[in-house]
Amino acid sequence: MKKIILPAFALVSIAIASCYYDKEELIYPNSGSCKGPTDTMGVNFSNVRTIIRSKCDGCHLSGGSSGGFNFDNDCSIVYYWNEIKGSCVQPYSLRQMPTSGPLSSSEQSQISAWVNAGHRYTD
Ligand code: HEC
Repeated sequence: MKKIILPAFALVSIAIASCYYDKEELIYPNSGSCKGPTDTMGVNFSNVRTIIRSKCDGCHLSGGSSGGFNFDNDCSIVYYWNEIKGSCVQPYSLRQMPTSGPLSSSEQSQISAWVNAGHRYTD
C-alpha cells in the first residue's frame, strides 16, 4: 500500500504546485522571474518603487492600468523598466509621465541610476 500512496502523493503535490504557479503568472506577469526566493530589494529599485507609488497613484496602481500599465506588483516595475524610463526621464521617448508634469530632476536621476545599475529588483 505504501508503494502506491507515496508516488500518488508526489504527483498530487506537483499538480498543485504547477497550478499555483500558472495562476500567479496569469495575475502578475513575470512575477516568477524577477526575483529569487532569497533576493533582497536593492536600494536603487527601492527608490524607484517609492517614486512610482507616490507619483503614479490613481492611474497605474490599486488595480488601475491607464494605457495598459499597472505597477502594483514589484515585478511589473522591473518588467517595464524601459517604458518607465522612456516616459519619466528626459529626453522622453514615450508620452511624458506623470500627466500632471515632469518628475523632479532628483527623481529622474534616481530612475536613471536604477536603469544604469542593471534595472533589476536586486539593484
Ligand atoms: C493622472 C493619471 C496618470 C498618472 C498619475 C500617471 N499616468 Fe501614466 N498614463 C496615464 C494615461 C491616461 C496613459 C495613456 C495615455 C494615452 O494612451 O494617451 C498613460 C500612459 C503611460 C505609459 C505609456 C506611455 C506611452 O507613450 O505609451 C507609461 C509607460 C506610463 N503611463 C507610466 C507612468 C508612470 C511611470 C507614472 C508615474 C511616474 C505615470 N504613468 C503616472 C495616466 C497617468
